[in-house]
Amino acid sequence: MKIAITGASGFCGGVLAKQAALMGADVLCVGRRPGPVGKHLPWDATVDQPDLGDADAVVHLAAAVGDPRPGRRTEEAFRSVNVDGTRRLLTAAAGRPVVWVSSASVYRPGPYRTPVREDHPADRQRTAYGRTKAIGEEIALAGHAVVLRPRAVYGAGDPHLLPRLRRVVHGGRAWLPGPDVPLSLTAVENLASACLAAIGWPPGAYNVADDVVYRRDEAVETVLGVPVRHVPLTVARVAALLPGRTLTRYSVDQVTDGMVLDLGKALATGWRPAKTLTPS
Ligand SMILES: NC(=O)c1ccc[n+]([C@@H]2O[C@H](COP(=O)([O-])OP(=O)(O)OC[C@H]3O[C@@H](n4cnc5c(N)ncnc54)[C@H](OP(=O)(O)O)[C@@H]3O)[C@@H](O)[C@H]2O)c1
Repeated sequence: MKIAITGASGFCGGVLAKQAALMGADVLCVGRRPGPVGKHLPWDATVDQPDLGDADAVVHLAAAVGDPRPGRRTEEAFRSVNVDGTRRLLTAAAGRPVVWVSSASVYRPGPYRTPVREDHPADRQRTAYGRTKAIGEEIALAGHAVVLRPRAVYGAGDPHLLPRLRRVVHGGRAWLPGPDVPLSLTAVENLASACLAAIGWPPGAYNVADDVVYRRDEAVETVLGVPVRHVPLTVARVAALLPGRTLTRYSVDQVTDGMVLDLGKALATGWRPAKTLTPS
């Protein structure tokens, strides 16, 4: 099978491209920079449609990712990749199966008292990232794509989560807002295996994460190797508004909202997330 992968120069797409090649797929890396394996098809999502040639399926991970200063320019920059780029990609896919990698950031902000299912409202997002991913996935769902919603992807080479988390370490302690909470995390290898399996799933949205409910403090201690101490949530929220802040409001939400994803729909397909968090 020939699989076109966008975002293969990035963290998740790179792992996916290597996993797909190991499984014997012919990989076409579609993006501004080459991926780690396979042929490179140059494409800027903000400009035009890629020519996907004889690809049998498409996995779309290219996205504007992050939590920059809010404002019109940020909103436009995110929209041009996550919304307009999605439209271009779906037109180019021309009926081929598409797996569109979304994010659990599309869900209405918490706190969450019960595991979040795919029918949880996807609105009121607090960042340009969440808003534009939500619009992008609406377009993808209307085009009969499979939409995956991973939460907090971790693994070797992670450019987003771990650098953000490292900012809370001071004096040999990780200073986290609010009390310990349960949460879902997604090993990048599990996201990659879901992307490949999902080429054959019925269209629709699916949560993707490790099949474990983690405790935040234990997970952070495992990853950072230092003990966790708590900062009152109100103090952390005010600090998130200040210049030179350690965490943004979105990052504070991510470690305090208690988001656990209900994996029932993805597991019912037979897919199994094999990896869990272990000390590095
Ligand atoms: N990491 C997480 O915790 C997480 C959680 C949930 C969902 N996701 C989703 O997973 C996907 C991959 O994220 P990631 O963590 O791997 O991020 P990443 O490392 O920042 O990779 C983003 C990818 O998108 C590409 N891209 C950005 N703008 C582009 C453009 N204009 N044209 C073509 N390609 C463009 C980048 O290409 P360049 O190399 O050219 O910049 C890169 O390959 C995204 O869809 C993201 O929403 C990630």
